[in-house]
Amino acid sequence: MEVVCIGAGYVGGPTMAVMAKMCPKDRFTVVDVDANRIDAWNSDRLPIYEPGLDEIVTMCRGRNLFFSADVPAAIRKADIVFVSVNTPTKLYGEGAFFASDMKYYEQTARDILAYADSDKIVVEKSTVPVRTAATMSRILCSGKQKHNFVVLSNPEFMAEGTAVQDLCAPDRVLIGGDDTPAAQSAVNRLAGLYSQWVPANRVLKASVWSSELSKLASNAMLAQRVSSVNSLAALCEASGADVTEVSKAVGMDGRIGPRFLEAGIGFGGSCFTKDILNLVYLCRHYGLENEAEYWHQVVKMNARQRERFVSRIVAAMFNTLSGKRVALFGLAFKSDTGDTRDSPAITIAEGLVREQAEVVIHDPKASSAGIPGVSFVQTPYEAAAWAHAVLLLTNWKEYVELDYARIFDSMQKPAFLFDGRNLLDHHKLHAMGFNVYPVGKPALEHF
Ligand code: NAD
Ligand code: UDX
Repeated sequence: MEVVCIGAGYVGGPTMAVMAKMCPKDRFTVVDVDANRIDAWNSDRLPIYEPGLDEIVTMCRGRNLFFSADVPAAIRKADIVFVSVNTPTKLYGEGAFFASDMKYYEQTARDILAYADSDKIVVEKSTVPVRTAATMSRILCSGKQKHNFVVLSNPEFMAEGTAVQDLCAPDRVLIGGDDTPAAQSAVNRLAGLYSQWVPANRVLKASVWSSELSKLASNAMLAQRVSSVNSLAALCEASGADVTEVSKAVGMDGRIGPRFLEAGIGFGGSCFTKDILNLVYLCRHYGLENEAEYWHQVVKMNARQRERFVSRIVAAMFNTLSGKRVALFGLAFKSDTGDTRDSPAITIAEGLVREQAEVVIHDPKASSAGIPGVSFVQTPYEAAAWAHAVLLLTNWKEYVELDYARIFDSMQKPAFLFDGRNLLDHHKLHAMGFNVYPVGKPALEHF
């Protein structure tokens, strides 16, 4: 089978690489309008960092995995066309700051229509508003040619940093298709592709609308847990309770479960905020104001958590950061990725710059995210030298393993440490001399 994926980003690249590994008899071509990105996929320095991805790309590239900027040629030869282009929040006009900007997505429908010279199964991989498949179908059926197009929904649930393991052993693969013989035959064909490595009981079939909405719902419910625990963190800080203890007690209830209950600086990444805002927009579109407001609170709480973190720093450091060096450990929105899209660390860095702090950033994989007035260094030790405060913002394992006694010695005194991920041994750091401020726990101070 010839499989093509339009969009060689964080989803398209890893998804097709894993499929190519698992389905050696099929051919996978990933195309993009961004020729530089394609060049990077064809080089030794892939455009994204994902643990385990280099090995798979090296194994499959040139065998049954190809990266190309020739979109028309790839569409022509495809049996199945996955679409995994970006669907960012719209920043202009109707629905601005809530709706998804579907211009890139719609363009792919027009390209498929323009270049297809045989029947195609078109698969939505991008996260899209519910009923997008209807738009796609209308465009695909608007031409003079007689080819048959079937549009399926097959949302991607992988998370960055664990993309390879998520794709190799997914919790579930969701395939949405219409109730027509042609659509059901396409669903079975797509399920056949996954059956080469995903157990049958993990392949879930649904209607197209349910499948599209399930993706938004999953992200909204995951993000809601993070906002819920962060709201409790604020209450813990005010009342003297410890949010880690609360999370543990709550998460041991089998009905709730322990995951996604880590308090911190709020969720980031390219998906959660965008997808919830899209859900808010959809609720409003269907006249569901209360439901829209319910989900909107999840995003508002997340923004508040970032602000609260900066306010706590200012208050702890005697109400002024002006001229003080502040070292940021981490810029990526989570560990094991270089992705900084909507990273809370960026909002925090910007807040510190507004307070006239001298902001110095280290991250093992992420580089400049275009934040004005900050500088980047090669090691966390360099960042911390002569700093008034260290902020741990990304949960990279290497930050747990640092020599904090050395860091303390190199800093100005009193030395402040704000652990935005609750990763470190706070009592040990306090005993070293740090004033320690975890999230959702009492501060450990020396005065
Ligand atoms: P991305 O920005 O990394 O990649 C999208 C790519 O599509 C870009 O390289 C862009 O140049 C290309 N593109 C845009 N329009 C094109 C066109 N008409 N023809 C060819 N190429 C085109 O985005 P991403 O993070 O891979 O996300 C893609 C989609 O998957 C989004 O809808 C996102 O919500 C969803 N998603 C993302 C993740 C994630 O972890 N990043 C997880 C699940 C789902
Ligand atoms: C998310 C979804 O998990 C994934 O299923 C979907 O396909 C894409 O969106 P991703 O954004 O890559 O994945 O990472 P995720 O692990 O969900 O983390 C999102 C953010 O929440 C990160 O900033 C992370 O640090 C934060 N988070 C997560 C918390 O603050 N606390 C937690 O307990 C869990």
